[in-house]
Amino acid sequence: MYSRIVGTGSYLPAKVLTNFDLEKRLDTSDAWIRERTGIERRHIIADGESNTDMAEQAARAAIASAGIEPHELDLIVVGTTTPDLVFPNSGTLLQARLGCGGAPAFSLEAACSGFIYALAIADKFVRAGESKRALVVGSEVLSRIVDYTDRSTAILFGDGAGAVVLAPSDEAGIISTHLHADGGYQELLYCTGGPARGPAPGSFPPGDVVRMAGSEVFRLAVTLLGRIVDETVAANHLDRSAIDWLVPHQANLRIIQATAKRLSLPMERVIVTVQEHGNTSTASVPLALNVGIRDGRIKRGDLLLLQALGGGITWGSALVRY
Ligand code: ACO
Repeated sequence: MYSRIVGTGSYLPAKVLTNFDLEKRLDTSDAWIRERTGIERRHIIADGESNTDMAEQAARAAIASAGIEPHELDLIVVGTTTPDLVFPNSGTLLQARLGCGGAPAFSLEAACSGFIYALAIADKFVRAGESKRALVVGSEVLSRIVDYTDRSTAILFGDGAGAVVLAPSDEAGIISTHLHADGGYQELLYCTGGPARGPAPGSFPPGDVVRMAGSEVFRLAVTLLGRIVDETVAANHLDRSAIDWLVPHQANLRIIQATAKRLSLPMERVIVTVQEHGNTSTASVPLALNVGIRDGRIKRGDLLLLQALGGGITWGSALVRY
């Protein structure tokens, strides 16, 4: 028994923050941001709009494309780093919106790898016969934990949501998932506060913000994402040339290019959306997947490599026959 992706959806808020907008607020430039990251714009959530609002939009699109009704869902897993509330968890908040109470619904936090972690868990529920219609979502409001006075992070992050629906299938499907973490690297990328510890004393700006040692994370990302490419193809006794599409975490175009090189994959076989929305953490892989499917590049039967790395450090991949 495999799980198979039977529906995808995504959502980006209407408000756009361009590199030129950031030029006016920070000592940076459109040219620097595009050259170092590939990012051109990010979408920023409206006042009064929430993580759950975005998750609902992406989820409803995925449910519609799967041709099912919300009440058919028997599992909801939401990956998020920026939940609306500490509890109830984001999965249950979304479940209430979809009006399909009863089935298990939960969220997990693994920073930018959260969607891959959520997908791996939902896949196991489906394979075990415990779920027949699983909704997997990544949704983030990173703009509310970005320090817009810090040019090294303010240029990177944006808001958005992406979702997939999984269903059982005799044919693959999600072929394998590979998850890793190394808490020893936590100082390289973290949020300064949390509900238990509270904000750091005397911290400015007040509230919890992202801090990142960018170039160290960059080097680690290139190494670990390259390594997980090798691990994924070796575990499945594949030649790298078997991969039709790389659907990577959209953090930095240069990291994506390095991974594509490791796969000997031309950039035409890589789904790149980072220019449109920057780093949306858990939303980034399902956002890119949805774009590639809806614009017709990714076709049924294609072999996809999904992968991400985020704070923790956490990282993971999924080999998927679409
Ligand atoms: N505009 C102009 N100059 C800048 C900016 C900016 N926005 N930011 C930094 N600089 C300067 C630096 O101050 C430095 O100047 P100096 O040489 O005078 O000291 C110079 O540019 C080079 O800085 P680096 O940090 O070495 O630049 P780098 O090429 O590494 O790019 C970046 C920085 C874009 C942050 C890159 O390191 C990166 O993308 N890192 C990884 C991000 C990532 O993948 N994160 C993981 C997922 S995120 C998550 O989990 C939440």
